[in-house]
Amino acid sequence: MSGTDRVISQEALAAQQDYAERVRQLYLKKLPRQPLACAVTFGCQQNEADTELIRGMLADMGFGMTAEEDKADLLIFNTCAIREHAEMRVFGNVGQTSHYKKANPDVVICVCGCMPQQPQVAEKIKNSYPYVDIVFGTHALYKFPQLLYTRLTGKKRVFDISGDESGVILEGLHPVRKEGPAAWLSIMYGCNNFCTYCIVPYVRGRERSRSPEAILAELRELVAQGYRDITLLGQNVNSYGLDREDYPDFAGLLEMCNAVEGGFRLRFMTSHPKDATERLFDTMAKCEKVCHSIHLPVQCGSDRVLKAMNRHYDKKRYLELVDYARAKMPDLTMTSDIIVGFPGETEEEFEETVQLLERVRFDSLFTFIYSRREGTRAAVMPDPVSREEKQKWFDRLLEVQNRISREINARYVGKTVTVLLDGESDDKNYDLTGRTEGFKLVHLKGDKSRIGQYAQAEIDRSSTWALFGKVK
Ligand code: SAH
Ligand code: SF4
Ligand code: F3S
Repeated sequence: MSGTDRVISQEALAAQQDYAERVRQLYLKKLPRQPLACAVTFGCQQNEADTELIRGMLADMGFGMTAEEDKADLLIFNTCAIREHAEMRVFGNVGQTSHYKKANPDVVICVCGCMPQQPQVAEKIKNSYPYVDIVFGTHALYKFPQLLYTRLTGKKRVFDISGDESGVILEGLHPVRKEGPAAWLSIMYGCNNFCTYCIVPYVRGRERSRSPEAILAELRELVAQGYRDITLLGQNVNSYGLDREDYPDFAGLLEMCNAVEGGFRLRFMTSHPKDATERLFDTMAKCEKVCHSIHLPVQCGSDRVLKAMNRHYDKKRYLELVDYARAKMPDLTMTSDIIVGFPGETEEEFEETVQLLERVRFDSLFTFIYSRREGTRAAVMPDPVSREEKQKWFDRLLEVQNRISREINARYVGKTVTVLLDGESDDKNYDLTGRTEGFKLVHLKGDKSRIGQYAQAEIDRSSTWALFGKVK
């Protein structure tokens, strides 16, 4: 199938709009007031972007939004399957909803996203959570109005985890984004990499790129609406366009986005080191809107483990990329993901990860203890190291990284940096928060009316996690 065939058809979209209108009419009859929905997101940025599409569909169906679960007529949990912990959180939250259902049997409870795209999880919800009304996977996202209509007009619970692995490309849906100057912009869906520990390729289908025209049109719209910090999104943005001969590669797309007029910043995530190229870093360096900031998950520092993870790069290549990128952009901020305790990882191999951290000195890290995912290749690999031992390694890793983050952040004290003011600070000693080009969080004293604007910030204090100062 070619890329254009995968774009959701106009007819399919029109049919959903029709269902949305019918749902709106049903609620008009049913309730003397506007129905309210509460949408909770458990997963990654992609998952958040999907929730924004869900909010768009909810608006079409006449819903207002509430953050209070017990006030909602419809509750929707957009779930994540990446680690067991994420799944347990969802089950815990879904379990709570039985109370809402008891208080009001008309409440509609939906579970969607990556978790139920796994058939065994959909089955578990079917059998153990009888008060859940609607369950759908990532491929059925756009059918939400139809599924809700079916539930409201029928007696049965509704399950839809259909959709083949090649997946669809969603165009023509209207996300309702979160407040603030930052926005996600999906440039591709799915993942082909099958890292041996990871569930994503199973629940998100194969890589498929949106057309550059669709991406640029959405970007222009975002800029016109006043968004100032735009993140191009995909599980592996560096393989953008590889599924299509007529599309640019990711560096080419970045250049096209950079040429869009307006005062905004561009970021992107996630980059896979196997597809990161010197050309990408050259492009980042020369495009003035592209932030000198990259999230480049390394996962671990041992070549043997990287191979077992099916990552397709070794430590030498990773370091080569880091050195090249820093030579081009001395002010580059770098973050990464690390998995501790992959099946069969030894303490010596773990130490190689620690050494890698000392060598690269990431600004910050997302660290995870390996979690076994049913159906992945790593799930059947021998995993002799105990949870307690892995926890010790994990704690050691954090200690090392926290020191590095603290040292890096301390170097900002006394400097003036450009920030985009993006919200109110939750620290009572400060008024605002801002983000540097490197996406560092800055708590600031200043005028709240300036939220959404760029400002110069004087940094007078730092911690492991943030910078502090005042707007000039
Ligand atoms: N597509 C992105 C990240 C997707 S998931 C990438 O390739 O970088 C985000 C992070 O979760 C991964 O980078 C990895 O560090 C972690 N992760 C994925 N599966 C995991 C598992 N089974 N156990 C622990 N951590 C995992
Ligand atoms: Fe998972 Fe690897 Fe794909 Fe990232 S690149 S989503 S870690 S399979
Ligand atoms: Fe989780 Fe799905 Fe994202 S599994 S990390 S929400 S793609």
